[in-house]
Amino acid sequence: MLNDDFDTGLNPETFAPETLAVHAAIRPDPHTNAIAPNIVMSVNHSFLPNEGAFSAQGMEDISDSPFLYAGWTNPTVRLLEQRLAILEQAEDGLATASGMAAITAVFMSLLKAGDHLVISDVCYAAVYEFATQVLPQYGIEVTAVDTSCIKSVQNALRPSTKLVHIETPCNPLLRLTNIQEVSLLLKNSGILLSADSTFSTPVITRPLALGADLVIHSLTKFINGHGDVLGGCVLGSKALISKLRSVAGVYFGASLSAQSAWLIMRGMETIYPRMKTLCESAQTIAEWLENHPKVLRVLYPGLASHQQFSLAKQQMTFFGGIIAFQVEDIELIEQRFAHESRMFYYAYSIGHQRSLAVVLKTEDLDKSTYRFSPEQKAKFSREAGKGVVRLSVGLESPTDLIRDLSHLLR
Ligand SMILES: Cc1ncc(COP(=O)(O)O)c(C=O)c1O
Repeated sequence: MLNDDFDTGLNPETFAPETLAVHAAIRPDPHTNAIAPNIVMSVNHSFLPNEGAFSAQGMEDISDSPFLYAGWTNPTVRLLEQRLAILEQAEDGLATASGMAAITAVFMSLLKAGDHLVISDVCYAAVYEFATQVLPQYGIEVTAVDTSCIKSVQNALRPSTKLVHIETPCNPLLRLTNIQEVSLLLKNSGILLSADSTFSTPVITRPLALGADLVIHSLTKFINGHGDVLGGCVLGSKALISKLRSVAGVYFGASLSAQSAWLIMRGMETIYPRMKTLCESAQTIAEWLENHPKVLRVLYPGLASHQQFSLAKQQMTFFGGIIAFQVEDIELIEQRFAHESRMFYYAYSIGHQRSLAVVLKTEDLDKSTYRFSPEQKAKFSREAGKGVVRLSVGLESPTDLIRDLSHLLR
């Protein structure tokens, strides 16, 4: 069987995304009529001598050849990639062992010594650390700027710039980047735009439709949605994805396992109702927090007080499940969330069916990750104060979540 023999099923142009999330690329098994997809656990696939390939070198796209070895790709993982591509309306996709593996795949496949990367100055900590502390060791120059400001992006560009990487909304400040504006700035420059859309998912924003070249997700978060699998993906044109597949998939060995791919596919089928429910709850909670006397500031794109509320309405269909807020006594609130909450698990990750909360202190983020200049620190502190409580709203009733928050913020 050829790697790309899957029937991609329904036509994305004639069916609603909610329908595609459930049905696209799914066909009953021809031997058993089973409706749920099979898991193919085999690491090896037999082949005829003239069909195999000893190396990814010189192959146009390894997904056009027969399945050979699960490190290259596997039928269950390939099905997930095709279903993700249908949801983002991308030509192709690469699934990886984690969101970080997807991002490092993009950086290491598209950049070489002497190239320059522009990255958002606030983004997921490991991405920021990898870009600013590891990439320079390989001769790649990196500039971190506030990508929500188009002038800052423009000023950061150099003749050697090859990639602009944005995260929108960004973790943990929920700042947005105007994807269309940045893509127009980069048009005809040969500079690629990658967008980490983990906080949005395809339900909320479609970065490729807005001009990004690549969209990245940590599948660990909302797309799987159940907090039980690590995974990541990159989606974009077939030409770009095939470049990533041979470097990142084959050489870095960050392949997703078939079992993880199957679980992510199962979680992903309910992404529309899950996102709708938790975004509506997050909106209710953000509005409630904004009126709470102990809360100094709420950062949530669905509030009129968000500094990019008009962009949020333009670029997002819902406003997401993540809320960050400042309180006067962050130490006390941290202890209460950790020891007294009945609804929010005190944990770092996001995007699960169960609500999660964590305190992210500005001082700690500065030391471990951002290493701010005085001006950067002042800017970060204007949004985050001494730190924020970051909530990842789950699928519980918002009434129960608010009752818990009311107790914690007493
Ligand atoms: C926005 C964003 N991108 C990427 C990642 C990394 O994903 P993973 O934990 O699957 O490696 C995270 C993790 O929290 C994240 O928040």
